[in-house]
Amino acid sequence: MSDEWVRIAAPATTSNIGPGFDTFGLAMSEPCDIIEGRKIDSGFKIAEVSGPGSDKIPKDPKINSVTIAAEQVLKRCGADFGIELRIKKGIRPCSGMGSSGASAAGGAVLANILCGEKLSPTQMILCAAHAEDVISGGLHADNVSPCILGGFTVIRSYEPFDVIRIEPPKNLGMVVALPDIMVATSDARKVLPHEVSIKDLVFHVGNASTMVYGMMTGDLGIISRSVKDAVFEPARARLVPFLKEAEKEAVSNGALVSFLGGSGPCIMSFYDSNTNIGGAIAEKVKAVYTDNGIKCDTWVTKPGVGCKRI
Ligand code: HSE
Repeated sequence: MSDEWVRIAAPATTSNIGPGFDTFGLAMSEPCDIIEGRKIDSGFKIAEVSGPGSDKIPKDPKINSVTIAAEQVLKRCGADFGIELRIKKGIRPCSGMGSSGASAAGGAVLANILCGEKLSPTQMILCAAHAEDVISGGLHADNVSPCILGGFTVIRSYEPFDVIRIEPPKNLGMVVALPDIMVATSDARKVLPHEVSIKDLVFHVGNASTMVYGMMTGDLGIISRSVKDAVFEPARARLVPFLKEAEKEAVSNGALVSFLGGSGPCIMSFYDSNTNIGGAIAEKVKAVYTDNGIKCDTWVTKPGVGCKRI
């Protein structure tokens, strides 16, 4: 049995992006989880979990996103070995930055390498999405898809599963502000309405369509105008104190648009990275929280290539 450790950097992602609930996703270039693993005779062993929020990550392989996804890969490949793992979180759980999705995607990519790269990217996405289903209480692949494929992804259909990747504009700057508030995706999904009106459906279809056009043509103006959500962010806003104030502050300081990242509580802002104002936007959004006694981490980042071996 080879004991070579394989190391994967699995990036944060932002999902929904206004109108594309459970369908749109965008990989960031940082932060990342680092998932390391090597073959063992059988079963799964999580040797170490470190990094922000690691105390909240279960070491029981039955309920850990990395191992649930990796196990699916081993099953599909008919593997006759197990995996020992070390998980270094760079993305804390309950952030809305695709933390469990990054771990699941990293676990799937790692296991696939150990199996001799038998699975396609779509098959790896399905393995990682299964882990998301178990962990977050709902099948959604909008974080794991960009985490594996990189760039901007659109899930056309879940059954049968069909996803496409679009290269986002080079100057699409991203600022993420993560207040020290925990919102579990499973809780954020419980507050959603079960039905939407035709009016809201029309609004979302229009904005989702123009978002895809903007990503394909590199038009930051139409991307920003298309980040509109009549249903999901309004239902979740009460879970994130100072959300509207933070979004307003970002836009007042040059962001093109600001919105709830995924299921929250992170606040995502887009800006034109040719302007170099990412740091200033981050400081201003952070101040909304620190002025109210809430710690807040920030990242100035950009679209990324998805999971990579390092
Ligand atoms: N689309 C999912 C949701 C993403 O909003 O619940 C979770 O990060």
